[in-house]
Amino acid sequence: MRLKKAVFPAAGFGTRFLPATKAIPKEMLPLVDKPLIQYAVEEAKASGLEEMIIVTGMGKTAIEDHFDTSFELEILLKEKGKLDLLNMIENVSGLVHFAYTRQKKPLGLGHAISITKNLINDEAFAVFLGDDIIDSKTPAMKQMAGVFEKYGTSILAVQRVSKKDAHLYGIIKGEKVSPGVWRVSDLVEKPKENPPSNLAIIGRYILTPGIFNALEKTAPGRGGEIQLTDALKHLLETEDIYAFEFEGNRYDAGDKLGFLKANVSLALKRPDLRADFKRFLKDLDI
Ligand code: G1P
Repeated sequence: MRLKKAVFPAAGFGTRFLPATKAIPKEMLPLVDKPLIQYAVEEAKASGLEEMIIVTGMGKTAIEDHFDTSFELEILLKEKGKLDLLNMIENVSGLVHFAYTRQKKPLGLGHAISITKNLINDEAFAVFLGDDIIDSKTPAMKQMAGVFEKYGTSILAVQRVSKKDAHLYGIIKGEKVSPGVWRVSDLVEKPKENPPSNLAIIGRYILTPGIFNALEKTAPGRGGEIQLTDALKHLLETEDIYAFEFEGNRYDAGDKLGFLKANVSLALKRPDLRADFKRFLKDLDI
């Protein structure tokens, strides 16, 4: 089974970034000079995925425009001889194939996945939560695809978190079956207390099509929303699920502090900015 399709839920209101996100989708906030969602799409492409399915909502047309051809801009850049910029712009629009579907009501991550059913058909697919930026040698989803090849089940990306942060994540319980791989036996979405482990789900999933049936059985959970974690618990009734601790640095760019950390770290990796930015940071009187 080869993975071809990637789903990017992008219908949320981005309330954590108001007022910046009042008229601009959160997914379009730039990390250094690229919108958040482009990092996830590039990771998907580098992991061999070909079809990007973006779940949008009201006020998200900038995402579609971003991945579209910008004919006038391309002509302008060509005329001015700015070929490096032209190349960069063409790379964005020509990345891969895009499909868009709209989540008409904010009913949660599980609901966003459920509305992609007709676009997915009967195959396993990848899910990327664009808030989670993963900087790694091998793209995180590519690492996961290797685990999927071995087990052929749904695979959840996990990372260890401290007990005090467990309430921010879906937490799994599992039995370790090989280095970095657990067979999942239970999951809890954002446990208020007593998390079943320190393994937190990070926003990368490979899901089997069985998830759609499981989602149908899933009642609204935390925050009154259809939670993907709850649907995965239903999926466990009929299928195995494995969790995989990927290699790489992950930033929660959906959080203000995480967003700042991601900007600083990624800027420091950029050859065109690194030296000057480092000097600036060193000179800060803090
Ligand atoms: C979502 C999932 C949660 C997961 C997290 C990873 O929560 O519901 O299980 O741990 O993404 O980023 P959110 O952060 O969207 O509230």
